[in-house]
Parts: sequence; structure tokens; C-alpha cells
Amino acid sequence: MTTQSQVQGRVVILGIYVTDLTFRAARMPLIGETIAGSAFAMGPGGKGSNQAVAAARAGADVVFCTRLGNDAFGEIAQATWKAEGITSRAKIVEGASTGAAHIFVDDTTGMNAIIVASGAAGTMSAADVDEIEADIASARVFVTQLEQPIPAAKRGLEVARKHGVTTVFNPAPALPLDDDIFPLCDYITPNETEAAALTGMPVNDIDDARRAADVLLKKGVGTVIVTLGEAGALLHSAQQSVFVAAYRCGRVVETAGAGDGFTGGFAAALARGEDAVSAMRFGSALAGISVTRPGTAPSMPTRREIDEVLGREAEAAR
Ligand code: RIB
Repeated sequence: MTTQSQVQGRVVILGIYVTDLTFRAARMPLIGETIAGSAFAMGPGGKGSNQAVAAARAGADVVFCTRLGNDAFGEIAQATWKAEGITSRAKIVEGASTGAAHIFVDDTTGMNAIIVASGAAGTMSAADVDEIEADIASARVFVTQLEQPIPAAKRGLEVARKHGVTTVFNPAPALPLDDDIFPLCDYITPNETEAAALTGMPVNDIDDARRAADVLLKKGVGTVIVTLGEAGALLHSAQQSVFVAAYRCGRVVETAGAGDGFTGGFAAALARGEDAVSAMRFGSALAGISVTRPGTAPSMPTRREIDEVLGREAEAAR
């Protein structure tokens, strides 16, 4: 349901910012072992902030709500959002540190393993959400994840629902959840691991994903989109079940942040009025480009780059 007070193209995202410290190496070290890495990079990260950057570069009018420490990492966050045209609703918590993530990237495959410490954003509460109720009410789409405390995510979904704003819930990282969160989700975007954790079923292929999605539909979710990494993504609802193969846009350099790119792009496309399947294609193309570049937020493409990939596909189908 859209209302007159909702601004077309506006997406409100609740989540965390952390600074990503990314190490590339041939393999992960064992406990007690030191190995030499091949590269290191520091840059903006955090699933919510990555989604905000992805949505903003994809053309959305983005408002981002979080908490930061009063420190150098917090300054990187503010500079990042300013450069991307993102409206910040970040509260500064005196005495707390902005969080950080340790990201290991496999030199050969580009696959990753992450440890994230949410820092100041880990103290977010439902009250933070109440303070931005007017922003949420003005949006077409509201997005959240699970790196900040669950009560904040849940209140965000409730407030969005109250104002008829479309809700997109990215249940990452996988955590046990009470069933009352699912009916608040117009869309849920788990990857295979998260879909398996939420349903207790193995999710290794499209058929598994469809079975897991059926369980989530029964719990009250409107539409389930299971992202299946290099295979693609499955959109499953009571009305339709559509699989979109992953876009191959070049050599895979780093997969960290690709799921955030998908969710941010999907939200941006929904907010400008695209239907769910076309928004899923847009999110998939965004993710397909992002994995060919290093970094999480820095790897997100612009709307023009995404449209070029989609345009080439449309041309090839003629
Ligand atoms: O999804 C990737 C993100 O997860 C990284 O940017 C890291 O900060 C963690 O939050």
C-alpha cells in the first residue's frame, strides 16, 4: 500500500556501520598459526550501511539510522554517507567505539569469512526507531537486518507496517527468531545458510530453497527471496515462483557484501515502483557486478552500470 505522504524512491534502512579490515590470503590460518597475507584494505562496511550505499548508488533517496562512536571509524562512516548522498540519522554514543569487521578473503576463489563486532551500533534499541518514525512513514520501502539487536529490527518492521511502508527483512547474520517477526515482512531475503537456520531444513539447491520458502510463507512472510550465491536467486510467494540465474560480469574478486548489494538494489528498485521480479533482477545484476570488485560498500555499482548489464541481457534475448 502506498500513501500520499510516501516519497517515491525513498528507502529507510536501519542497521550497523563498521569499518571493514580485509585480509587476502591463500587460506585461513589455524589457531596458533601466523601466515602471510597477500593484501590488506580498510573501508566502509556493515550490512546496513553497505545496503544504504548500494541503494543510493542505484538511485534511491536513502535515510540510514544507526549508532556510532565518537572516533576515527565513525568519521569514515559520516564521510562515506555524505559522499553517497545518504541522509544520516546516526546517534553518537560517547564512550563507545564504532565497530569493526575482520574479513578473510580467499585469494583464489574470492569467497570470504567474517567476524563482526558491532560496537556502538550493538547498543541500538527500539527507542532509536521511534525517534525516526516520521522518516519511516515518508518512505516507500523500509529495510533492516540482524547485526543490531533484534528488538530494534522488529520495532522498525512494526513502525513501517503501521504506516503502510513495504518491509524488506534481510535476516543476516543467521540468528534464532521468534515467529512473530515473520508476519511483519513483505519480503525476506535470506541466503542459503540463513534460510536453513530459520527453517531447520538443509538449503543447497533451488528445490531446497523452494521448500524452505514454503515454510517461511506459512509463518506469515509475504514473499521469500532466497539468494543462492553463484547460482542465482529464487523468489517464491503464494502467487509465483521465479528463479533468476546469477549475472556473470567478469572474474570474481571478492564476494563479501554481494548479499547486501542484492538487498539494497532490490529495495531501490521496489521504491521506484518496479515489480518484485524486476527488482530481483536489478538486485542480482548489482550483486553480479559487485563481486568483480574488491571491498564491500566500495564495490557497489551505479545505476548506469546496472542498467547496462540488464540492457545487454535484454538485447541478447531478442
Ligand atoms: O555483508 C558483508 C558485511 O558483513 C561486511 O561489510 C562486514 O562489515 C559485515 O558486517
